[in-house]
Amino acid sequence: MANDVPRFDPTDPDFLHDPYPTYAALRERAPVLRHEPWDAWIVTRHRDVDRLLRDKRLGRVLDTAPKVPDDPVFAPFARIQAGSLLEIEPPDHTRIKQAVHDVFTPKHVRDLAQRIRALAVRQADRLAETIARDGDADLISVFAEPIPVTVIAELLGVPESERHRLLPWSKGIIGMFEPERTPEQEAAGIRAADEFAAFLRDLAAAKRRAPADDLIGRMVRTQAEDPGTLSEDEIVANGILFLNAGHEAVVNVLGNGFKALLTHPEALAAVRADPEGRTRTAVEEMMRYDTPLQFFERYALEDLRYEADDGTVHDWPRGTKLALYYAAANHDPAVFDAPERFRIERWPNPHLAFGLGTHYCIGAPLARLELAHAVRALLERVPTVRLAQDRFAYVPKNVFRYLTELRVRA
Ligand code: HEM
Repeated sequence: MANDVPRFDPTDPDFLHDPYPTYAALRERAPVLRHEPWDAWIVTRHRDVDRLLRDKRLGRVLDTAPKVPDDPVFAPFARIQAGSLLEIEPPDHTRIKQAVHDVFTPKHVRDLAQRIRALAVRQADRLAETIARDGDADLISVFAEPIPVTVIAELLGVPESERHRLLPWSKGIIGMFEPERTPEQEAAGIRAADEFAAFLRDLAAAKRRAPADDLIGRMVRTQAEDPGTLSEDEIVANGILFLNAGHEAVVNVLGNGFKALLTHPEALAAVRADPEGRTRTAVEEMMRYDTPLQFFERYALEDLRYEADDGTVHDWPRGTKLALYYAAANHDPAVFDAPERFRIERWPNPHLAFGLGTHYCIGAPLARLELAHAVRALLERVPTVRLAQDRFAYVPKNVFRYLTELRVRA
């Protein structure tokens, strides 16, 4: 019955402020829902999202999919997308992933632990100083942002004097991934892509002249040794991807996650009392509870039949677009006991915040290390941290979910 279908309006400010009640209704009554304005199917149950992410008949890109309008104005953006890991499928995906994989393995990442810990402590101390001076401070800009931005910039080899340019470029580019973007956001995204690409081309050229052992330096060396491995455009596209993906979601987990932690005093007290024992599971729950990347799209790479968890059968022609809602899957009561409760001891916690399958987040080990050190450093250095606001504003976006600010005092 038509009026049984829950309302799904991704432009509604109430939905953008708190999408979880809508996800609950969709999961229950229309877990695979056609949404005409996006020409896509909205998928919200964990079992479906999980299965579809592993299904090789689906991919992030279909060569004919109009990701951005076919217009020369979009060329700078299309170019930085073309060779990025996120926008290609095997065998190209496998080739590029092999070229960069080493840098992100848990073993290599563990070597960064001391540096990450030092950065987290430094920023926690800055937060304490700002609070002491001003009475309160924004946890996101003062504490959260500088940690992953510095880590990823160091990993790639971006000189310190240039790092302040990364955040505005990244914000411009992520706007392009929103289905409900405005012409102004598009113009800003294209400008950011153009500038960012020029910057990375210069950086790669500098590393050709003076070899370096950072990620850009390694990509440049790989290219020189075996030109078939990576093209110049692929170095630029993946440099941009790593710089953006390497900090956006970490910052957003810290903002959304500390909001959750600071509004649940028993959870906060438990992590503070036993950081060694509690931080690992608390970090996973922070990612599950208010997922920073709410959904990603997939395309049917061939005509396919799919039987959904609710028994409905879908015949999807090649090119069909699906919006797989990781955030809705992360609150599915079929998988998570009392999913609307924030429980830092939750384990196992099979959330999909890092995705799954071919495009599973390459930075997951690094992100987990950064988040754990950030949580521990903040609670250690600012032990009485508490909220200085009781109303929260989320940036009105569909894919990226994050707070405009998170004001705290001590
Ligand atoms: C808590 C923080 C993070 C979250 C929640 C997160 C989430 C994700 C998700 C959901 C995807 C898959 C997108 C899809 O399914 O279409 C992804 C891919 C990716 N992430 Fe992360 N990420 C985080 C941190 C990082 C970090 C620190 C890096 C460092 C470089 C990174 C680099 C990437 C890259 C390169 C991809 C593309 C992988 C591929 O297509 O093969 N991410 N991330």
